[in-house]
Amino acid sequence: MDKSRLPRHVAVIMDGNGRWAGLRGKERVYGHHEGAESVRACSEYAVETGIEYLSFFAFSEENWKRPEAEVTELMHLMAVSILNERPTFRKNNIRFVVIGNRSRLSDALNRDIDLAMEETSGNTGLTLVVFLSYSGKWDIEQAALKFAAAGAPAGRFGDYLATAGIPDPDLLIRTSGEQRISNFMLWQCAYTEFYFTDVLWPDFRKTEFRKALEEYASRERRFGKTGEQVTIETNGSK
Ligand code: FPP
Repeated sequence: MDKSRLPRHVAVIMDGNGRWAGLRGKERVYGHHEGAESVRACSEYAVETGIEYLSFFAFSEENWKRPEAEVTELMHLMAVSILNERPTFRKNNIRFVVIGNRSRLSDALNRDIDLAMEETSGNTGLTLVVFLSYSGKWDIEQAALKFAAAGAPAGRFGDYLATAGIPDPDLLIRTSGEQRISNFMLWQCAYTEFYFTDVLWPDFRKTEFRKALEEYASRERRFGKTGEQVTIETNGSK
């Protein structure tokens, strides 16, 4: 792996847990549990390769409309995963961050999140971001309100987004064959490279992650410029 072509921030839309479970004649929640194992495997690989930011779209604002039992199970899984992973965060110097409309989460879950965030706030390795009760439109709306309230000159709009301080994603991965952004980081993905795979999320582990990183490394990013301009800038900065 060419480290100089590693994305700084990888974001993931984890999709296909339900189908993965269905194919095995199991309940959807079984797929979510296996999906949580993929989160773990990808986080480990991110630490191994030196990726700085890894984001997971774990629960969207729209996901609240799922059957109550599934929502409850997902929230429970979230709480258990956070509590179980605290030693791993410590060991691997991981900073844990949750972003989203946290007013919709239970007090108990918010306490667990605060605890893990406070405990890891000084860590300097991988920043692991879990998006919970998040939607891109919600983020832009809440930022616009704060931006307007701050009055001019209010600084950069991005400083008011829930992701302030986190660089925009370089690579967005979506599993299970769906090819859409589904209200994830709408503003932040302006120049993000997209990687789609048919692999279902519970099967997306180290080998698949590596493939996505290799594909990213082979792409040329132009940010609206010509290929020639990019080549000159890249060579000039060496
Ligand atoms: C999408 O599959 C998956 C989700 C909406 C939930 C993802 C959450 C986890 C894996 C929980 C663990 C997360 C962390 C950060 C610990 P789907 O249910 O939409 O699958 P389908 O499209 O096959 O129905």
